[in-house]
Amino acid sequence: MYANSRFPATRLRRLRYHPLLRRMVRETSLDPGDFILPLFVRPGRGVRQPIRSMPGHAQLSADEAVKEVDAARQLGVHAFILFGIPAHKDAIGSAAWAGDNVIALTLQELKRHHPDALFITDECFCEYTDHGHCGVLSERTGMRDVDNDATLPNLVRQCVRHAEAGADLVAPSGMLDGMVAAIRQGLDAAGFAHLPILSYAAKYASAFYGPFREAAESPPSFGDRGSYQMDPANGDEALREVALDLEEGADLVMVKPALSYLDVVRRVKERFGVPLAAYNVSGEYAMVKAAAERGWIDERRVTLEILMSIKRAGADLILTYHALDAARWLRG
Ligand code: PBG
Repeated sequence: MYANSRFPATRLRRLRYHPLLRRMVRETSLDPGDFILPLFVRPGRGVRQPIRSMPGHAQLSADEAVKEVDAARQLGVHAFILFGIPAHKDAIGSAAWAGDNVIALTLQELKRHHPDALFITDECFCEYTDHGHCGVLSERTGMRDVDNDATLPNLVRQCVRHAEAGADLVAPSGMLDGMVAAIRQGLDAAGFAHLPILSYAAKYASAFYGPFREAAESPPSFGDRGSYQMDPANGDEALREVALDLEEGADLVMVKPALSYLDVVRRVKERFGVPLAAYNVSGEYAMVKAAAERGWIDERRVTLEILMSIKRAGADLILTYHALDAARWLRG
């Protein structure tokens, strides 16, 4: 009856029978030290403006951001990525590299209180331009579009300004060709040869960024980001993007979003074996929160399962809005 089977000699359930053994043979583990918590910062004092579509998150002034970092570090989360909401926007996003830009000022304050935490700066223009696109616009191609090469010098200015203000890692997210090479050269020339670059190498034009755009006040005023972010249908192209960014000098690379792109995470890890981050984005967070609020899912178990799946797929670092809840839950 069992002629072609190793059963009953082989029973994989034997490894699951005892809860302690089950734990000991577990292949993947989660550590709050792997999490990167996104923070939305804006000018002012004492500002904590809740973000409707991202329960538990708020736009913070620098003093409030310091408190958030205090709380996170108590839970073992020591890495943060900063997104800025500037007081003024213009056509080129000049607030992104102004001397007193909101990220630079906030960084200085955060660094004073937490000199040994890790602060990453998102390097992009969609929060700073009045049209909400990730750079300078032109009609060079016959269509109104982000002008790749005209945006690069601004991107370098932004990164250098953030480096001067104390960024520990810069993370360009605009999906411009040549962005990593330009930033590397600019940072080196400004005396920041030691500063690593985390490239949003494979970033897809995704509808899962919806809540973020409310949080960062950055929706495009016309069109979408399909001419610079990747087509969700493409997997092989992500490997080309990653290969190019590594050649240009990226020290770490990112796949974003995470959940619908776990195949890409796995392929990048297997092909390149470099430090890899995955971004568990705002829409992924909002779906869990909304279903949990309705009592339709067990938030704790679903969240930890999601984060585990991202790790299992091959991510070393996870950018996630669940960082603090998950850190609390992992403590038991
Ligand atoms: C661009 C940027 C975006 C996100 C991170 N960096 C938005 C976009 O490309 O429109 C999205 C993150 C999220 O949804 O959590 N600066």
